[in-house]
Amino acid sequence: MGIQISPSILSADFARLADEIAAISSAADWVHVDVMDNHFVPNLTLGLPVVEALLKHSALPIDCHLMIEDPDRWAPAYAEAGAGSVTIHVEAAKAPVRTLRTIRAAGARAGLALNPATPVEAYSDLLGEVDMLLLMTVEPGFGGQKFLDVVLPKIRRAREMIDGRDLPLWLQIDGGVDSETIERAAEAGADVFVAGNAVYGGTDPDQAVRNLRAQAEKAAGAPGKAFGFGRGH
Ligand code: DX5
Ligand code: ZN
Repeated sequence: MGIQISPSILSADFARLADEIAAISSAADWVHVDVMDNHFVPNLTLGLPVVEALLKHSALPIDCHLMIEDPDRWAPAYAEAGAGSVTIHVEAAKAPVRTLRTIRAAGARAGLALNPATPVEAYSDLLGEVDMLLLMTVEPGFGGQKFLDVVLPKIRRAREMIDGRDLPLWLQIDGGVDSETIERAAEAGADVFVAGNAVYGGTDPDQAVRNLRAQAEKAAGAPGKAFGFGRGH
Protein backbone atom coordinates (compact mmCIF):
# COMPACT_ATOMS: atom_id res chain seq x y z
CA MET A 1 0.00 0.00 0.00
CA GLY A 2 2.93 2.32 0.59
CA ILE A 3 2.83 5.51 2.61
CA GLN A 4 -0.58 7.01 3.45
CA ILE A 5 -1.43 10.37 5.00
CA SER A 6 -4.55 10.89 7.10
CA PRO A 7 -4.91 14.56 8.09
CA SER A 8 -6.75 15.17 11.36
CA ILE A 9 -9.54 17.75 11.24
CA LEU A 10 -9.05 18.31 14.97
CA SER A 11 -6.78 21.19 13.91
CA ALA A 12 -9.20 22.44 11.23
CA ASP A 13 -11.86 25.14 11.50
CA PHE A 14 -14.84 23.29 13.00
CA ALA A 15 -17.25 25.88 11.55
CA ARG A 16 -16.16 24.93 8.00
CA LEU A 17 -15.45 21.21 8.15
CA ALA A 18 -16.64 20.33 4.63
CA ASP A 19 -14.39 23.04 3.15
CA GLU A 20 -11.51 21.93 5.33
CA ILE A 21 -11.85 18.36 4.03
CA ALA A 22 -11.98 19.68 0.47
CA ALA A 23 -8.69 21.48 1.18
CA ILE A 24 -6.86 18.14 1.58
CA SER A 25 -8.83 16.09 -0.93
CA SER A 26 -6.38 16.17 -3.82
CA ALA A 27 -3.38 15.03 -1.74
CA ALA A 28 -4.60 13.00 1.26
CA ASP A 29 -5.61 9.32 1.41
CA TRP A 30 -8.04 9.61 4.32
CA VAL A 31 -9.58 12.19 6.58
CA HIS A 32 -8.95 11.41 10.25
CA VAL A 33 -11.84 12.27 12.57
CA ASP A 34 -11.13 12.34 16.31
CA VAL A 35 -14.15 11.39 18.40
CA MET A 36 -13.59 12.34 22.07
CA ASP A 37 -16.07 11.90 24.91
CA ASN A 38 -14.50 13.83 27.81
CA HIS A 39 -14.23 10.55 29.74
CA PHE A 40 -11.63 8.39 28.01
CA VAL A 41 -9.74 11.63 27.27
CA PRO A 42 -10.11 15.06 28.89
CA ASN A 43 -11.57 16.71 25.79
CA LEU A 44 -14.86 16.71 23.91
CA THR A 45 -15.17 16.94 20.12
CA LEU A 46 -17.92 15.40 18.01
CA GLY A 47 -19.88 12.21 17.54
CA LEU A 48 -21.91 10.12 15.15
CA PRO A 49 -24.29 12.83 13.82
CA VAL A 50 -21.34 14.96 12.69
CA VAL A 51 -19.57 11.96 11.16
CA GLU A 52 -22.78 11.09 9.27
CA ALA A 53 -22.95 14.65 7.95
CA LEU A 54 -19.28 14.63 6.93
CA LEU A 55 -19.70 11.33 5.09
CA LYS A 56 -22.13 13.08 2.73
CA HIS A 57 -19.64 15.82 1.95
CA SER A 58 -16.27 14.08 1.94
CA ALA A 59 -14.54 12.92 -1.21
CA LEU A 60 -12.12 11.02 1.02
CA PRO A 61 -12.85 7.93 3.11
CA ILE A 62 -13.23 8.69 6.81
CA ASP A 63 -10.77 7.29 9.34
CA CYS A 64 -12.64 7.41 12.67
CA HIS A 65 -10.48 7.41 15.80
CA LEU A 66 -12.72 6.73 18.77
CA MET A 67 -11.22 8.07 21.99
CA ILE A 68 -14.26 7.12 24.03
CA GLU A 69 -15.36 4.87 26.85
CA ASP A 70 -17.45 1.86 25.91
CA PRO A 71 -16.37 1.57 22.25
CA ASP A 72 -17.98 -1.89 22.23
CA ARG A 73 -21.32 -0.12 22.35
CA TRP A 74 -20.62 2.82 20.03
CA ALA A 75 -18.10 1.71 17.39
CA PRO A 76 -20.36 -0.47 15.21
CA ALA A 77 -22.62 2.50 14.38
CA TYR A 78 -19.70 4.42 12.84
CA ALA A 79 -18.94 1.44 10.59
CA GLU A 80 -22.62 1.04 9.68
CA ALA A 81 -22.80 4.76 8.85
CA GLY A 82 -20.10 4.26 6.21
CA ALA A 83 -16.78 5.17 7.81
CA GLY A 84 -13.97 3.49 5.88
CA SER A 85 -12.02 2.71 9.02
CA VAL A 86 -13.04 2.61 12.68
CA THR A 87 -10.37 2.47 15.39
CA ILE A 88 -11.06 1.61 19.03
CA HIS A 89 -8.72 1.92 22.00
CA VAL A 90 -7.69 -1.32 23.63
CA GLU A 91 -7.58 0.48 27.00
CA ALA A 92 -11.32 1.21 26.71
CA ALA A 93 -12.67 -1.91 25.02
CA LYS A 94 -14.06 -4.71 27.17
CA ALA A 95 -14.61 -7.11 24.27
CA PRO A 96 -12.14 -5.97 21.59
CA VAL A 97 -12.30 -9.15 19.50
CA ARG A 98 -16.07 -9.03 19.26
CA THR A 99 -16.08 -5.31 18.51
CA LEU A 100 -13.34 -5.58 15.86
CA ARG A 101 -15.26 -8.38 14.18
CA THR A 102 -18.46 -6.33 14.28
CA ILE A 103 -16.69 -3.39 12.64
CA ARG A 104 -15.37 -5.64 9.87
CA ALA A 105 -18.75 -7.29 9.39
CA ALA A 106 -20.26 -3.84 8.84
CA GLY A 107 -17.81 -3.30 5.98
CA ALA A 108 -15.22 -1.02 7.57
CA ARG A 109 -11.56 -1.60 8.27
CA ALA A 110 -11.05 -2.41 11.95
CA GLY A 111 -8.39 -0.47 13.86
CA LEU A 112 -6.90 -1.08 17.29
CA ALA A 113 -5.21 1.84 19.09
CA LEU A 114 -2.63 1.68 21.86
CA ASN A 115 -1.65 4.59 24.10
CA PRO A 116 2.08 5.33 24.51
CA ALA A 117 2.40 3.25 27.71
CA THR A 118 0.43 0.25 26.43
CA PRO A 119 2.72 -2.60 25.34
CA VAL A 120 2.16 -4.01 21.88
CA GLU A 121 3.36 -7.51 22.79
CA ALA A 122 0.26 -8.08 24.92
CA TYR A 123 -1.90 -7.79 21.80
CA SER A 124 0.20 -9.90 19.47
CA ASP A 125 -2.46 -12.61 19.24
CA LEU A 126 -5.11 -10.06 18.22
CA LEU A 127 -3.27 -8.72 15.19
CA GLY A 128 -5.05 -11.12 12.84
CA GLU A 129 -8.30 -9.44 13.89
CA VAL A 130 -7.24 -5.94 12.85
CA ASP A 131 -6.68 -4.08 9.60
CA MET A 132 -4.74 -1.25 11.21
CA LEU A 133 -2.70 -0.95 14.40
CA LEU A 134 -2.54 2.63 15.73
CA LEU A 135 0.36 3.46 18.02
CA MET A 136 -0.27 6.82 19.69
CA THR A 137 2.80 9.04 19.66
CA VAL A 138 1.22 11.49 22.14
CA GLU A 139 -1.12 10.94 25.06
CA PRO A 140 -4.50 11.22 23.31
CA GLY A 141 -6.80 14.19 23.81
CA PHE A 142 -5.32 17.22 22.09
CA GLY A 143 -3.71 18.32 18.85
CA GLY A 144 -0.44 20.18 18.68
CA GLN A 145 1.44 18.09 21.26
CA LYS A 146 5.08 17.08 21.02
CA PHE A 147 5.94 13.76 19.38
CA LEU A 148 7.00 11.16 21.97
CA ASP A 149 10.26 9.58 20.85
CA VAL A 150 9.82 7.02 23.62
CA VAL A 151 7.33 5.24 21.31
CA LEU A 152 9.86 4.69 18.49
CA PRO A 153 11.15 1.32 19.79
CA LYS A 154 7.54 0.08 20.01
CA ILE A 155 6.96 1.11 16.39
CA ARG A 156 10.04 -0.93 15.40
CA ARG A 157 8.88 -3.95 17.40
CA ALA A 158 5.38 -3.72 15.92
CA ARG A 159 6.86 -3.56 12.41
CA GLU A 160 8.91 -6.68 13.13
CA MET A 161 5.81 -8.51 14.41
CA ILE A 162 3.81 -7.51 11.32
CA ASP A 163 6.52 -8.36 8.77
CA GLY A 164 7.61 -11.49 10.62
CA ARG A 165 4.13 -12.95 10.36
CA ASP A 166 3.44 -11.41 6.96
CA LEU A 167 0.29 -9.75 8.29
CA PRO A 168 -1.55 -7.41 5.91
CA LEU A 169 -2.30 -4.72 8.49
CA TRP A 170 -1.28 -1.07 8.30
CA LEU A 171 0.76 0.58 11.06
CA GLN A 172 -0.55 4.05 11.84
CA ILE A 173 0.93 6.66 14.15
CA ASP A 174 -0.91 9.68 15.53
CA GLY A 175 0.37 12.69 17.43
CA GLY A 176 3.13 15.23 16.88
CA VAL A 177 3.76 14.15 13.29
CA ASP A 178 5.42 16.99 11.36
CA SER A 179 8.33 17.69 9.04
CA GLU A 180 10.75 17.25 11.93
CA THR A 181 9.44 13.88 13.20
CA ILE A 182 7.89 12.01 10.26
CA GLU A 183 11.16 10.67 8.91
CA ARG A 184 12.19 8.84 12.05
CA ALA A 185 8.69 7.39 12.44
CA ALA A 186 8.79 6.17 8.83
CA GLU A 187 12.26 4.70 9.35
CA ALA A 188 10.92 2.86 12.41
CA GLY A 189 8.24 1.27 10.22
CA ALA A 190 5.03 3.32 10.39
CA ASP A 191 3.17 3.54 7.08
CA VAL A 192 0.02 5.57 7.84
CA PHE A 193 0.58 9.03 9.30
CA VAL A 194 -2.03 11.17 11.04
CA ALA A 195 -1.15 14.86 11.08
CA GLY A 196 -3.30 17.68 12.42
CA ASN A 197 -1.33 20.78 13.21
CA ALA A 198 1.28 20.09 10.52
CA VAL A 199 -1.44 20.05 7.84
CA TYR A 200 -3.99 22.60 9.04
CA GLY A 201 -1.60 24.94 10.89
CA GLY A 202 -0.31 26.44 7.63
CA THR A 203 -1.86 28.09 4.59
CA ASP A 204 -1.83 25.20 2.06
CA PRO A 205 -3.09 21.91 3.56
CA ASP A 206 -2.85 19.92 0.31
CA GLN A 207 0.77 20.98 -0.17
CA ALA A 208 1.59 20.16 3.46
CA VAL A 209 0.27 16.63 2.84
CA ARG A 210 2.42 16.28 -0.30
CA ASN A 211 5.51 17.43 1.59
CA LEU A 212 4.92 15.01 4.48
CA ARG A 213 4.34 12.13 2.07
CA ALA A 214 7.56 12.87 0.18
CA GLN A 215 9.53 12.93 3.42
CA ALA A 216 8.02 9.67 4.66
CA GLU A 217 8.53 7.92 1.33
CA LYS A 218 12.16 8.97 1.24
CA ALA A 219 12.78 7.80 4.81
CA ALA A 220 10.94 4.49 4.35
CA GLY A 221 12.75 3.79 1.10
CA ALA A 222 16.21 4.66 2.32
CA PRO A 223 18.67 1.83 1.56
CA GLY A 224 19.54 -0.14 4.65
CA LYS A 225 16.24 0.71 6.30
CA ALA A 226 13.09 -0.58 4.63
CA PHE A 227 14.87 -3.04 2.37
CA GLY A 228 15.75 -5.88 4.61
CA PHE A 229 18.47 -4.52 6.85
CA GLY A 230 16.12 -3.65 9.69
CA ARG A 231 14.27 -0.37 9.75
CA GLY A 232 15.53 2.46 11.89
CA HIS A 233 19.03 1.20 12.44
C1 DX5 B 1 -4.83 13.43 19.51
C2 DX5 B 1 -5.56 13.04 18.25
C3 DX5 B 1 -4.80 13.36 17.03
C4 DX5 B 1 -4.51 14.82 16.84
C5 DX5 B 1 -3.15 14.90 16.25
O1 DX5 B 1 -5.39 12.80 20.60
O2 DX5 B 1 -5.85 11.65 18.24
O3 DX5 B 1 -5.41 12.81 15.88
O4 DX5 B 1 -5.41 15.49 16.02
O5 DX5 B 1 -2.80 16.24 16.14
P1 DX5 B 1 -1.30 16.70 15.86
O6 DX5 B 1 -0.90 16.13 14.54
O7 DX5 B 1 -1.41 18.19 15.84
O8 DX5 B 1 -0.44 16.18 16.98
ZN1 ZN C 1 -6.46 10.78 16.27
